[in-house]
Amino acid sequence: MKLLFYLSGENIDLSRKEVIYLLKAFDKKYKIIEAKDQILIIETDIDFKVFKRLGLCHKVLEYMDEEIILDGTFAVRVQNLGEKKGNKELEKKIADEIQKQNDFSLKTDLENPQNEIYCLCSEKLYIGKTLITINRKEYEKRKPQFRPYFHPSSLHPKYARTLINLSQAKKELLDPFCGTGGILIEGGLMGLKVFGLDIEKKMVEGCKKNLDFYGIKDYSIKEGSVEHLDSYFQNIESTATDVPYGKSTKLKKDIYEMAFEKIYETSKKACIVLNKEYDFEKIGFKLLDTEKLRMHRSLTRFIYVLQCE
Ligand SMILES: C[S@@+](CC[C@H](N)C(=O)[O-])C[C@H]1O[C@@H](n2cnc3c(N)ncnc32)[C@H](O)[C@@H]1O
Repeated sequence: MKLLFYLSGENIDLSRKEVIYLLKAFDKKYKIIEAKDQILIIETDIDFKVFKRLGLCHKVLEYMDEEIILDGTFAVRVQNLGEKKGNKELEKKIADEIQKQNDFSLKTDLENPQNEIYCLCSEKLYIGKTLITINRKEYEKRKPQFRPYFHPSSLHPKYARTLINLSQAKKELLDPFCGTGGILIEGGLMGLKVFGLDIEKKMVEGCKKNLDFYGIKDYSIKEGSVEHLDSYFQNIESTATDVPYGKSTKLKKDIYEMAFEKIYETSKKACIVLNKEYDFEKIGFKLLDTEKLRMHRSLTRFIYVLQCE
């Protein structure tokens, strides 16, 4: 099947990689047909439902580049990519063409169609049938300030999801600097078993409170330092973490080297975010990818996608 991804616009490279690493996580063969701006078209036989997990994507569509033969009611919606607005005239034209291809047998239902034909309009028109609409408002509702236990250091849920997807977690996820659980909440909601460690008792309690609030049950959160990570957790599938900077670093020596050695020993794959560039290969990791994440004008973070074996 050819899948058309309507990616979110804030970091297109990162949103593309998120899709690709999810395919890699499930060992699926894929062929990139087109990757241009917010459009990504991929041919693959993966069960598309897995893409419900994406953080930086609006919609996943079945790409329709030939005749559009439908069963059931339909509605056409057009999204102009540059201007972020619809186009009623074009919607009508495409709907008429689809009716023609279906011998004028289709019923329109603009409210609740069985087939939503979604058209992305840039220099070219891309047409697909909606398979998944990612409810990004839900991500907004889970932002740090809306959780029972709040700390400003927590990442936006959409980025937490992206890190998890880059870490290729399918069953288990560890965050050895779990803080308030921003990454673990999203992991838990994706159906992963989540493991967390934090040196601060109040963070551990807050993290548990937050996980409970979102109905996540399959978790294990410990209080302790990353120096002893391997005494709490072993053989974990994937780690995704946002390491502490400045004041929140509770380590005397080189926190990074020691923390990364422990992550290397504990997990098979990892996605690590930090505030500077770092040579992970000296620890033994295989470097799969790097990406910059611009948080705001004066803050850029570096994302590393790593393999530990
Ligand atoms: C950037 S915050 C993590 C944010 C987290 N991802 C969230 O969503 O809340 C870093 C966390 O690392 C913890 N920390 C600092 N030094 C540590 C250490 N040596 N071992 C474990 N945790 C530590 C801090 O208490 C803080 O909660």
